[in-house]
Amino acid sequence: MKVAVVGKGNVGGGLADRWERAGHEVTRIGKDGGDVSDADVVLLAVPGSAVAEAFETVGGWDGKTVIDATNLVGAEPPAGFSSNTEFVKSKTNGPTAKAFNLNFARLYDQIDQAGSPPSNLWSGDEEARDAVEQLNRDAGYEPVCAGGMDKTAVQEQGIALIFAVSQASGPFFYRMAPPEEL
Ligand SMILES: NC(=O)c1ccc[n+]([C@@H]2O[C@H](COP(=O)([O-])OP(=O)(O)OC[C@H]3O[C@@H](n4cnc5c(N)ncnc54)[C@H](OP(=O)(O)O)[C@@H]3O)[C@@H](O)[C@H]2O)c1
Repeated sequence: MKVAVVGKGNVGGGLADRWERAGHEVTRIGKDGGDVSDADVVLLAVPGSAVAEAFETVGGWDGKTVIDATNLVGAEPPAGFSSNTEFVKSKTNGPTAKAFNLNFARLYDQIDQAGSPPSNLWSGDEEARDAVEQLNRDAGYEPVCAGGMDKTAVQEQGIALIFAVSQASGPFFYRMAPPEEL
């Protein structure tokens, strides 16, 4: 796949490295801006409060499949939207999903040592499923669907629990699976 990462820091840069190793062609875009019109899938990994700005500095979003990895830490989604993901969808009108926001970039280089693939929650449009699940597996995660676009706000707010557990017990992988698989 041709993937564009908007935000090339811990998350965007880290996933870009893993996807390149899996054979994808990745373009990395930072604050200087760029264009995503050539991409099959776009990962949005900018600070949660900079999402609206990213649509000004980066062009070519129309109809794109976008995976939104942002978290809102001490900030609200843009006015009128219950999640950053819903805002993204309003700008692109393409298949949109929330994913990669509920795991730790600092553990990306330990994914391959895990006994079985760590889980990674995603939610959003059914039309985004194939791309989201493929890019999860190619990053080393097992995707777990949390529902449709109406669940993206819940997933975004889930970062509060992830932070709480991390502060109490350190960074972690999680694994969600039917009972017979654990
Ligand atoms: N760190 C984690 O473990 C983790 C895990 C899950 C989700 N998240 C979320 O993922 C997002 C990124 O986190 P991070 O840790 O990767 O942050 P980071 O290392 O600070 O990287 C942020 C990136 O966003 C770029 N950027 C900022 N404003 C931009 C704009 N207007 N247009 C295009 N690019 C812009 C920066 O560009 P330059 O390179 O040009 O400065 C930088 O590459 C945040 O929303 C965070 O809450 C983080």
